[in-house]
Amino acid sequence: MKAALYRATGAAADVIRLEEVEQPEPGAGEVRVRLRLSGVNPTDWKARTGATPRPILDFQIPHHDGAGDIDAVGEGVPVERLGERVWVWLAAAGRPWGTAAQWTVVPSAQAVPLPPGASYELGACLGVPALTAHWCLSADGPVAGRDVLVTGGAGAVGHFAIELARWSGARVAATVSGEAKAELARRAGAELVVNYREPGAQAELQRFSSRFARIVEVNLAANLQMDLGLAGPDTVIVVYAADLEDPVLPVRACMSANLRMRFVLLYGVARPDLEAAAAMVHRALGENALTELPLVRFPLDRCADAQEAVRSGVTGKVVLEIP
Ligand SMILES: NC(=O)c1ccc[n+]([C@@H]2O[C@H](COP(=O)([O-])OP(=O)(O)OC[C@H]3O[C@@H](n4cnc5c(N)ncnc54)[C@H](OP(=O)(O)O)[C@@H]3O)[C@@H](O)[C@H]2O)c1
Repeated sequence: MKAALYRATGAAADVIRLEEVEQPEPGAGEVRVRLRLSGVNPTDWKARTGATPRPILDFQIPHHDGAGDIDAVGEGVPVERLGERVWVWLAAAGRPWGTAAQWTVVPSAQAVPLPPGASYELGACLGVPALTAHWCLSADGPVAGRDVLVTGGAGAVGHFAIELARWSGARVAATVSGEAKAELARRAGAELVVNYREPGAQAELQRFSSRFARIVEVNLAANLQMDLGLAGPDTVIVVYAADLEDPVLPVRACMSANLRMRFVLLYGVARPDLEAAAAMVHRALGENALTELPLVRFPLDRCADAQEAVRSGVTGKVVLEIP
């Protein structure tokens, strides 16, 4: 099969190659998916640079997320799954079979049915961002009837955090950096969208809510002062991204707010919680609560360019089209 892969970490153009490799066979409890699209996330290029070290056996096909059709099942998986349209999550976690290839093999629970009407495009973008968004929102209890702030509301995680929070019955505000991104956050369902670069952003958010239950935080170092002005004893600031600079923690201000913080890294979330998150995303999908961000498409043989586009912070979701 054709696969974009790397055998050593390094710069995208230096290490990613399109190669022919043996088609994988599903083991017990696994399914094989004929992929249509591969979704690209920041974690994919970070792993490929070696910034977040992962052992490479012979080769690593990158990308956790994708969508396609099950065409083979391993022992113990019902044959009824054959032909199912599915979205795939964490395909490359501890395995060489990422989604930048014609086929991948994953444990059966990591290939989730796509409901009728849900596109492969949407399916390919769900995995890492939607599972992260769900866990950020739900790890400290339900948000129904509560107020949620999503910083970076036009990012991939931010987008699904807005949609999942609204679907769960929360009121949602979001921050963005400009009008095009504001429109995306509004379309996702944020009731208030503010430009965090403009003065008065915090005051607008304070008028929206004096009691945010969750702040889903993409950049703690940049936003901690703003978050502190919005946080109280009921608030959990949930941090899922590390920027270049670590924040300086103003301990007295955090104490005064009786602040709680949670840090999230999807790779370390317990397996049952990941599967529960996938089940909730599946339910939300079935109720038409999730939508696509604008797509930026690359062919499989431009995998390196696709990863560079993600690294440069392109607006929308980058996908690879699989031949
Ligand atoms: N912990 C985990 O398990 C996990 C899971 C998924 C992703 N991540 C990490 O989370 C980050 C985002 O991932 P993603 O896929 O959502 O990326 P993305 O689609 O590129 O979105 C990132 C968003 O953050 C916004 N942003 C940056 N600085 C901001 C600030 N100070 N305030 C508000 N928004 C800000 C960016 O917009 P502007 O720059 O225009 O504001 C952009 O819209 C990446 O670093 C990724 O590695 C971690």
